[in-house]
Amino acid sequence: MKALVLAGGFGTRLRPLSCTRPKILFPILNKPLLYWMLEKMKANDVDEVIMAVNRQTAFQIKQSKLQKSDIKISYSFDPPGKPLGTGGPVKRAEKLLRNDDFLALNGDIFTDINYAELMKFHKKVGAIATIALHKVDDPSRYGVAELADDGRILRFIEKPTAKMAPSNLINAGVYAFNPKIFEYIPKGRKVSMEREVFPKLSEQGALYGYVHDGLWSDIGEVKEYLQINLYMLSLYSCDTCAPKHFDNVELKKPVLIDDKSFVGNDSIIGPNVILGSKVYVGRNVQIRNSVIMSGVEILDNTVIDGAVIGENVKIGRNVKINERCIIGDYAIIGDNVFLGEGVSICPAKEVLESISSAIFNAKCW
Ligand code: GTP
Repeated sequence: MKALVLAGGFGTRLRPLSCTRPKILFPILNKPLLYWMLEKMKANDVDEVIMAVNRQTAFQIKQSKLQKSDIKISYSFDPPGKPLGTGGPVKRAEKLLRNDDFLALNGDIFTDINYAELMKFHKKVGAIATIALHKVDDPSRYGVAELADDGRILRFIEKPTAKMAPSNLINAGVYAFNPKIFEYIPKGRKVSMEREVFPKLSEQGALYGYVHDGLWSDIGEVKEYLQINLYMLSLYSCDTCAPKHFDNVELKKPVLIDDKSFVGNDSIIGPNVILGSKVYVGRNVQIRNSVIMSGVEILDNTVIDGAVIGENVKIGRNVKINERCIIGDYAIIGDNVFLGEGVSICPAKEVLESISSAIFNAKCW
């Protein structure tokens, strides 16, 4: 089975972390999302993956050395400077996919959907497109489906108001397509699968839904990204999740600390902390409810609570970083700096003075 992975979006809602990495390479439990997706695909009869990306993302995926010998990965590029949305990249990969039914996966979804079962259902009902559906409390941020008893989607509405939503079943960003799908996607322009193609297919009775009850998370926003990391941490917590060589360090489970990281005396790590590779933590540091990516340095007496810290960030002494702060890769936070709730720092920015709160919500300092 072939799978097309859509991973050429800009991930604007994940800035500033997405300024320097595509969503598909955001780490979950210290491994890129793409690693988890490839593992899942291998276990579900996928033997060839086509990454629909821009050149920058392809470069970064290659750098990440995730290529697996037992699964073939090739690339289908969006035209330079011309993102094609969620439909255009499918059409663009037509030559590679036109011979058989195939999977299409959004590259920002962490899920345990059984792709093989999805494909089986799709073929059994003879759909042109089958959308994996997931039940959520508030469907208004997603595409919502009204499902008939026979699995047909009667209506598909993208981002309806809470009142207008026909159900709580949302588009999980995982699809099975028959090659006839290509006839529904105009060539050479940006196309929204959700707004242009799915509504048309549902009118024609050719769109089906496959309900998935298990694990599902869209990492499209930082809050969700942190949440799925900490949820997975709660499942994977174990005695060997942290190196044993620390003296006088209090580890409050669940924590995951890479073997190549170091934590100094009198520090308290956890609960709910992930430290990536080669993180250095000084003395008397406290970290809670946070994801700290690789190569970060955190000096003595600093406190971090509820934040995501990008790769290779340097944080000085006596710093306080509060909830919902996001620090872009390679930023420097000077000694004694206080960052109030929700402050975002741009990649490689030097911050030498305190920032009390994120008054300008969208602003990245
Ligand atoms: P935001 O800017 O934060 O909305 O994110 P996004 O546009 O990257 O993501 P969105 O949720 O809209 O897209 C769903 C999936 O489609 C993601 O995996 C994206 O990477 C992918 N995608 C979105 N636009 C494009 C595009 O123009 N080209 C390609 N190849 N993939 C895309």
